[in-house]
Amino acid sequence: MNDLMKLLSIKKPIIQAPMAGGAVTPRLAAAVSNAGGLGSIASGYLNPDVLETQLLEMKQQTDRPFQVNLFVPKHEKALEEEQVQRWKGIIPHSDKARPFASIQDDWQDFYQKVDLLLKHQVEICSFTFDLPPEDAVKKLKGAGCILLGTACSAEEAILMEERGMDAVVLQGVEAGGHQGASLPESKPVELPTLITETVGRIGIPVVAAGGITDEKGVREALELGAQCVQAGTAFLVCKESAAHPVHKQQIFNASASDTRLTKVFSGKEARGIVNAWIKENEHREQDALPYPYLNTLTKPMRQEAAKQNDPSRMSLWAGQGVGQLNSEMSVEELMEQLWKSKQN
Ligand SMILES: Cc1cc2nc3c(=O)[nH]c(=O)nc-3n(C[C@H](O)[C@H](O)[C@H](O)COP(=O)(O)O)c2cc1C
Repeated sequence: MNDLMKLLSIKKPIIQAPMAGGAVTPRLAAAVSNAGGLGSIASGYLNPDVLETQLLEMKQQTDRPFQVNLFVPKHEKALEEEQVQRWKGIIPHSDKARPFASIQDDWQDFYQKVDLLLKHQVEICSFTFDLPPEDAVKKLKGAGCILLGTACSAEEAILMEERGMDAVVLQGVEAGGHQGASLPESKPVELPTLITETVGRIGIPVVAAGGITDEKGVREALELGAQCVQAGTAFLVCKESAAHPVHKQQIFNASASDTRLTKVFSGKEARGIVNAWIKENEHREQDALPYPYLNTLTKPMRQEAAKQNDPSRMSLWAGQGVGQLNSEMSVEELMEQLWKSKQN
């Protein structure tokens, strides 16, 4: 048992990635915590009242530790009206999109969630997309909450340590879903390189994320110096996951080369299975409306596609480890596959 496992009070060095967008429910996260790993609630797109309901459900379903993940608000660039209109003309159902949230709205939502974490004495909190603000760090640490930041480069990991994080999740280019980089100049790096470049430069434990779907991947990350791994796609296809069945099936059918990073769903780079929407808009990658605006505009299209079981316009987030995932497993089976009980 290493330092981070002790700190997080877990028996296996496995963290289920927080996955905003609906796949993660208390049922999934609690199953992971109950199997000796760390379950994660993804609060990114949840209203604070839904988050509170999920926290209460978690406490009913497990007495083991779990974490809550927060998006740190960031509006990367100012909006250009002409560009907005251009994208509205391209995206099906964009007329049904909600008005854009302001950065003030996003910060209000963030601090409401921080207050809920304090109210319910959540023991572990992680952040993505940026450095968490100092006042939130102070409040949460003051209440004894363990904090994890996300970094896509050694430089970002150093900043996370300086900001007071207890550990940092290193996210490689292989990872499914959004890249959680905080520095605009960060370019995605492969996970083994990222771990090797970072471990000697920071004093806090490292968690490895990106493309890990089997025990070999876990072992390799630990051998390079990570103390835990964070797996997303592998948990997304579990029986307990609420991911859309079409999304799961697409993952079972895919191999690594079927995935790529794209901005055309949300405005921020994210890895998913290539589908018609990504192909049709390949030439618009450079002109993508910034996050979170493009995400807001494509939401009705994605929802409608999900209703129709149509993968061509869903965001099929998945990491490069998809090739090893061929059928639905229970969380318990997957946990055993990632880290055999005898190794405890
Ligand atoms: C569907 C999906 C949603 C995700 N949402 C979040 C999120 O809300 N917060 C976060 O920190 N990371 C999120 N991630 C990234 C994961 O934390 C993690 O870096 C990634 O899943 C690791 O790569 P893997 O999917 O290949 O295991 C998401 C990943 C996926 C696949």
